[in-house]
Amino acid sequence: MNFPPRIMPNTRMRRMRHDDFSRRMMRETILTANDFILPVFVHEKSGRTPVECMPGVERLSIDELLKVAEQALELGVPVLDLFGVPNPECKTADGRAAWDENGIIQRAIRALKSRFPELGVMADQALDPYTTHGQDGLPDANGYIQNDETIEAIIKQSLSHADAGADILSPSDMMDGRIGAVREALEENGFIHTRIMSYAAKYASAFYGPFRSAVGSAGNLGKGNKYTYQMDPANSNEALHEVALDIAEGADMVMIKPGMPYLDIIRRVKDEFAVPTYAYQVSGEYAMLQAAIQNGWLDADKVIIESLLAFKRAGADGILTYFALDAAQRLKQQSNV
Ligand code: PBG
Repeated sequence: MNFPPRIMPNTRMRRMRHDDFSRRMMRETILTANDFILPVFVHEKSGRTPVECMPGVERLSIDELLKVAEQALELGVPVLDLFGVPNPECKTADGRAAWDENGIIQRAIRALKSRFPELGVMADQALDPYTTHGQDGLPDANGYIQNDETIEAIIKQSLSHADAGADILSPSDMMDGRIGAVREALEENGFIHTRIMSYAAKYASAFYGPFRSAVGSAGNLGKGNKYTYQMDPANSNEALHEVALDIAEGADMVMIKPGMPYLDIIRRVKDEFAVPTYAYQVSGEYAMLQAAIQNGWLDADKVIIESLLAFKRAGADGILTYFALDAAQRLKQQSNV
């Protein structure tokens, strides 16, 4: 093994780390509230119900959602991302409640945009909360999720969200060609300002478990899986191919999901395409951190911000995180000391 020539003591890496002022001078990555997108679960019931396995996360009625939106605005978090929790009796094999103009998400979008027009409102497009089988799309007789038939449903859901006033659509179904199809439908219907953040590289991940309990699709999905449409966690080049397609089809922003176990993908995507790139710190990542925090095994005051900073260092322009309000509050306190 070759060692560099002896250069001590001229080079002392610790000099710059010696004081707070010089640590601040050389800090490369800065996290702010602008970097966060808060995912929220909106249910048909009144009040709030806790999400099991996600301490601190609750399903919200529209009234409660408005209170959370107000907090987000106060803390400078620019966007809320809405996920629907329909009543079980609204679920069907074709998931048609997803594009009901009086559906839970459509009403939530309208309520938010009329009360807080300056707040960015994003909504997820996929059928899983609305289907009796818990899949994101429409199965054929053999249970295979059909691509083109699903896209037709995603278009209807997208248009109903755009019509309700959503600023950003985020198709999460992973059908081939859906970004192009949704973009074309938006243009044809005059929604030229509606942004699309595509779930471009979305992996078939075990880290989504708590989310599926939150929206009530876990029991319906049962032993089913999403391997024929979500990506294999073993693959990296395939992510670049997916992202290239979504950009060509008209995505304004791309997302990599999950987050922390996929930082290598974020870096490759950012280096290759240099487009607005987002990471989703998903429900299972949140659950892991909270479980350790609650046991006293990790220090919340340090680990939450560190976990989010890592995404930016890896190249992300922003992060979807259930910690958004908590982290924004911590950043605000830090800047006040
Ligand atoms: C729906 C969807 C999922 C998530 C976001 N949108 C679940 C899934 O694909 O099974 C996961 C989010 C999270 O785990 O926090 N298609």
